[in-house]
Amino acid sequence: MHKNIRWHNATVTRRDRERLNGHRSFILWFTGLSGAGKSTLAHRVEELLFLRGCRTYVFDGDNVRHGLCSDLGFSAKDRHENIRRIGEMSKLFVDAGVIALTAFISPFRRDREMVRQLVEPGDFIEIYCNTPLEICEQRDVKGLYQKARRGEIKDFTGISSPYEPPENPEIVVNTGSDPLDECARRILDYLEKNGKIA
Ligand code: PPS
Repeated sequence: MHKNIRWHNATVTRRDRERLNGHRSFILWFTGLSGAGKSTLAHRVEELLFLRGCRTYVFDGDNVRHGLCSDLGFSAKDRHENIRRIGEMSKLFVDAGVIALTAFISPFRRDREMVRQLVEPGDFIEIYCNTPLEICEQRDVKGLYQKARRGEIKDFTGISSPYEPPENPEIVVNTGSDPLDECARRILDYLEKNGKIA
């Protein structure tokens, strides 16, 4: 950080924005293998929250890598930087009173913990999209697993790069076997029970 910069406090605070919006702001952090169903579920949860009048925004791995993170690849170092940027961005959205939903593989525990530590306790809700590798590979929606098996993609998560499942996620969803709406319902139930949404 440059030494000649100073923090400027806002006069309209996060709490003011939350009051105006009528709900708390927080991060729903979806993690899981490629093809686990993170994006589909994040968008479904967003729809349900939106229909209830919540301010929301989905950050999606593929999309963010078209712009904000287009300079990054898939080495551990680049993935760390990817998650750091998304973490900082999500933190700003939380400050803006918005519910940020993020759908990134985020394979390393250390990186997900870094984001958890960036925000206030309770603001980071980790959702493990627990679809086994065999199912992701069977689905192979983008044909990437086939390419990875042929050695055409290096550092591919689950094949040639590790995925570290969360040890204590707030929510686990069986995106490999349970219907989409059941998984979405479980997340909304959690938010209601924990006073995040009315
Ligand atoms: S990470 O690990 O969190 O930085 O990855 P993320 O930003 O979520 O990007 C994952 C999407 O990029 C595509 N892709 C790869 N994934 C994993 N490993 C390698 N090497 C790779 N190369 C490209 C893939 O489509 C991922 O999309 P999802 O939606 O997860 O299937």
